[in-house]
Amino acid sequence: MNKTDLSINFAGIKSPNPFWLASAPPTNSGYQVMKAFDAGWGGAVWKTLGVPVVNVSSRYGSTNYRDTRMAGLNNIELITDRPLADNLKEIEEVKKYFPDHAVIASLMVESKAEWQQIIKDVENAGADGIELNFGCPHGMCERGMGSAVGQEPEVLNTIVQWVMEASNIPVITKLTPNISDIREPALAAVSAGTDALSLINTIKSIVGIDLDTYAPYPVVDGKGTNGGYCGPAVKPIALHMLKELAGHPDIQKTPISGIGGIETWRDVVEFILLGATSVQVCTAVMHYGFGIVREMEAGLRQFMSDKGYETIYDFAGKAVPNVLEWKNLNLHYKVVASINADKCIGCDLCHIACDDGAHQAIALPENGSRIPEIIEENCVGCNLCSLVCPVEDCITMERRDDGSRFESWEERTLAGNTPSSFNDQRGGGVGHFVPPPADALKTKRRDRSGIRNK
Ligand SMILES: Cc1cc2nc3c(=O)[nH]c(=O)nc-3n(C[C@H](O)[C@H](O)[C@H](O)COP(=O)(O)O)c2cc1C
Ligand code: SF4
Ligand code: SF4
Repeated sequence: MNKTDLSINFAGIKSPNPFWLASAPPTNSGYQVMKAFDAGWGGAVWKTLGVPVVNVSSRYGSTNYRDTRMAGLNNIELITDRPLADNLKEIEEVKKYFPDHAVIASLMVESKAEWQQIIKDVENAGADGIELNFGCPHGMCERGMGSAVGQEPEVLNTIVQWVMEASNIPVITKLTPNISDIREPALAAVSAGTDALSLINTIKSIVGIDLDTYAPYPVVDGKGTNGGYCGPAVKPIALHMLKELAGHPDIQKTPISGIGGIETWRDVVEFILLGATSVQVCTAVMHYGFGIVREMEAGLRQFMSDKGYETIYDFAGKAVPNVLEWKNLNLHYKVVASINADKCIGCDLCHIACDDGAHQAIALPENGSRIPEIIEENCVGCNLCSLVCPVEDCITMERRDDGSRFESWEERTLAGNTPSSFNDQRGGGVGHFVPPPADALKTKRRDRSGIRNK
């Protein structure tokens, strides 16, 4: 376990481990960054610097999902409201105490002259790198900055060129997810010479409405505005966008810092497997504090040791080749659900889900037992019952094809063997069981005779 080396060299930025704080409230001051480094974080992207702003109160709203507080966090905060000189002084001080940790200055200004000036300032303060904030989807974008740049690849390309001309330290371009194709701004940044990319910034959102005042959260004097969404809820979107970049032939060589909903060591491993070589965290630290890095580090080391990896680079991107286009998946792979009667608690969730939301392939036995039965010939292997089952490993998906056949939709198309008219008998659902419609009105449907799709 001790053989694992977590250190990284991210586009020239050295860090003792891949755990960085994202540019956000936890990196608002030297006090916080020092406390974080002391707790075990390897790097910090400073709260975005620029011409100081005036913030509103309140600033955050959240999605509380059942018992989970802050499953998603929404904010309408702007960049730093502190004077540049104070931030620069503190960056310098942090670097004195932690010369081997990564301090990255996040920047957002408007004109070429401002960009070139602030780059010199943060270089002089000892920053190890620069991150360009082209992501903020509220407030700053109304002033032509943040996501207003991230959504316009040509403008982004021009600004990255200005920055590359002026910068002597590595430059990371941070992208907004508020765009239909994340590859466009990424390619614009790469062609302008960025040293690295990071993603995602927050997603434009409204988390809810006050049912008495009809104001959106967070409420500012009876009104509100769209915010930027982050936290565990956005992780799937971040992973998808990361894969879009890591799998692109013209981006593959550009290091990517993964951001979005990272909270545990498992999240970290997943981002690395999809091509990130550093990760950044904001919401989880705002929720639980800097101490979460200890679990992240222990878990990552254990994973690497179990798999025989010595460095991050031994497994970075290993999942990318497994993410295909739908048309390349095997149409002959067949799984069905299987219930472990010893584990089942008879809650009926799987039966209800399959009957109302899937393919009527789960029945309750005639003998009054609470343990449902899978009707294999009706099961399409969609996974739904195994997802709703509250008991770990009670419903498993079992393979039924013998693995000898592979045929993708693309191959079938090339062979001219795909359904091509509305009633084409080659459609996948032909012959599949559905109950007669009137069965829906019976109080208890135990008749499995059904009808066959024509
Ligand atoms: C309150 C708040 C303020 C933020 N401020 C900034 C900022 O100044 N600059 C920036 O690039 N990103 C900012 N972000 C976005 C985060 O850096 C990060 O990209 C996003 O929160 C996703 O990561 P997470 O899911 O770990 O929170 C902010 C996020 C939050 C919640
Ligand atoms: S896998 Fe889908 S179709 Fe099969 S039993 Fe479960 S919910 Fe029903
Ligand atoms: S959801 Fe799981 S525990 Fe509940 S009845 Fe179905 S198999 Fe049993």
